[in-house]
Amino acid sequence: MSEFKVETWYQGLLKQFSMFTPPSTISSLLGNEVGAKTWAKLLAFSKPMPAHDKLIHGIHSELTDFERKFTYGFFSEVWSGQKNVLEIGSFLGSSSRAMCLGMLMNQKRVPGVKLYTYDKFDTYYTNDEQFNFLQGQVPESALNTFRETGSFKECFDYYHSGQEYSHLLEADYGVLPGKPEDVGSLQNCFKLEEGIEFDAVFVDGAKSWYGTKYFFQTIAAHVKPGAFIIFQDYGHYPCFWLSTFVALLKHNFRLAMNIDNTYTFELIAPLDAEEIDVNFPDHPRDLAPDIYEQIYIQEMREANVRSDTYAFLSLSLQYAAALAYIGQIDEAKMKILRLAAQPYFADYMGMIQQALKTPTYSPDGAVQIP
Ligand SMILES: C[S@@+](CC[C@H](N)C(=O)[O-])C[C@H]1O[C@@H](n2cnc3c(N)ncnc32)[C@H](O)[C@@H]1O
Repeated sequence: MSEFKVETWYQGLLKQFSMFTPPSTISSLLGNEVGAKTWAKLLAFSKPMPAHDKLIHGIHSELTDFERKFTYGFFSEVWSGQKNVLEIGSFLGSSSRAMCLGMLMNQKRVPGVKLYTYDKFDTYYTNDEQFNFLQGQVPESALNTFRETGSFKECFDYYHSGQEYSHLLEADYGVLPGKPEDVGSLQNCFKLEEGIEFDAVFVDGAKSWYGTKYFFQTIAAHVKPGAFIIFQDYGHYPCFWLSTFVALLKHNFRLAMNIDNTYTFELIAPLDAEEIDVNFPDHPRDLAPDIYEQIYIQEMREANVRSDTYAFLSLSLQYAAALAYIGQIDEAKMKILRLAAQPYFADYMGMIQQALKTPTYSPDGAVQIP
């Protein structure tokens, strides 16, 4: 008798499901509560070819194993293959590689479409931290450039040249401004070629409130309803600006899939730069505290309906992060302490303790709770 393997079972299910169009079919079959998570897990289990599996784990990254496999599965199975893909926040390109290999396997991919990836490619980690895992991995010359200038673009280029997917990848400098006043003076400020279109966007470099606004205003004319926006940090507790952004433009986004901290939304109405400007102010303090309350009560309710304890906790911490960011430190501390006292969050105590010290960060540095 053959041994029952959950992976084989998932793969069989995926084959059946991928005959339909996600995410609406999956959601109508399974209900919204479990559809988003199930679909993401199915994709993560779509199992890369062994050589691809080794490659997507061959670059240091903060993405979890599931997130890398999901990214690969998404681009091989779900991405339409008809338009380009955009990424902000390449780092050394672990996510870029997972996307490109997935794109390579996608049978719907039309010739000429590419992944355009942007990053500031400069001083992300402190040099010492980054140095440790790059040593022995990249040529001395790339390492020297990094040591002397802080730039890791040469390291990125080394990892991705001469690969079977290299023709699908275009990497360039693109910096998101942290504040409105930076826009005019910033070197390599993120911009896009006129007329270029994308139907999937991977967001992992929107590390500030205003940077997020600037990014979406810039891409608004380049994405249409039906495109997928993948937020790598949506569930990461300091990054409240991402969930707030989606909540304030709720009519544009529908949750399609989520795995670990990575949330994928389908764009269901056109993004408009002016509308973004009206709905999402330049600074978090320009939103009243009760707006945050409304947003996060709704977000937490939805996480609860999806029976997603981790999402419930990370969104609760994001609510506290938003309050800390706008100066309501005591209120933020009280909320985090209340979460720490709940026995059913015991598995996440390390994360809660971190949030208790540093609930979030701004372009000026960490926001601390004394
Ligand atoms: C978490 S890392 C990305 C990880 C990457 N996706 C991977 O798979 O390993 C975040 C990246 O965002 C970039 N970044 C941070 N702030 C940025 C900004 N203002 N503009 C452009 N890129 C930025 C950093 O340089 C860093 O490479």
